[in-house]
Amino acid sequence: MHYSDKVMNHFQNPRNVGIIKNADGVGKIGNPVCGDTTTFYIKVKNNIIDDIKFQTLGCGAAIASASMVGEMAKGKTLKEAMNISSSQIVKELGGLPEKKVHCSNLGADALHKAIENYRAKQRGDKREAHKKILEEKTFMCPACDDPLVESKLFCRRCQMKLEFCKECGKPKRKDDEKCPHCGATKIRV
Ligand code: FES
Repeated sequence: MHYSDKVMNHFQNPRNVGIIKNADGVGKIGNPVCGDTTTFYIKVKNNIIDDIKFQTLGCGAAIASASMVGEMAKGKTLKEAMNISSSQIVKELGGLPEKKVHCSNLGADALHKAIENYRAKQRGDKREAHKKILEEKTFMCPACDDPLVESKLFCRRCQMKLEFCKECGKPKRKDDEKCPHCGATKIRV
């Protein structure tokens, strides 16, 4: 089987091999037919892949492909990195023997999975942060001064619907023209 010089170079001296502790995203993909696996670890700064490492338990073509993926993805935005395809990897490697083209999928798929993992964590973090803000804030009913249950804008005692004042952020009666706390007339729902 003939491999290009570039493939041999990446296989014998793979770049970015290893693990990133506390990685922002991790993605592992296995090929069920041959049993080979690749795992990518990424660190993300300002939506850009700032650091990347991989581990491949597999054939030379899979190692060379993952090494190339790492080089292609580093410094790219997440969107650009998501667009890195197996065919681009093969092209950058100067080609792969036809029987080994499928090996380039591991690297691309593992990278994409690491990005998806990062995005999922981000979504989770944002939800958690929002939940925490709501939990930490105790709002009082402006009419009876009872605490509002779980930050819901409804006072059980007064059976009254409330909304947040756009200016001071405190709850006011929906019907109130003016906020009883700061006197502002504009409201937000
Ligand atoms: Fe399994 Fe190459 S033979 S990835």
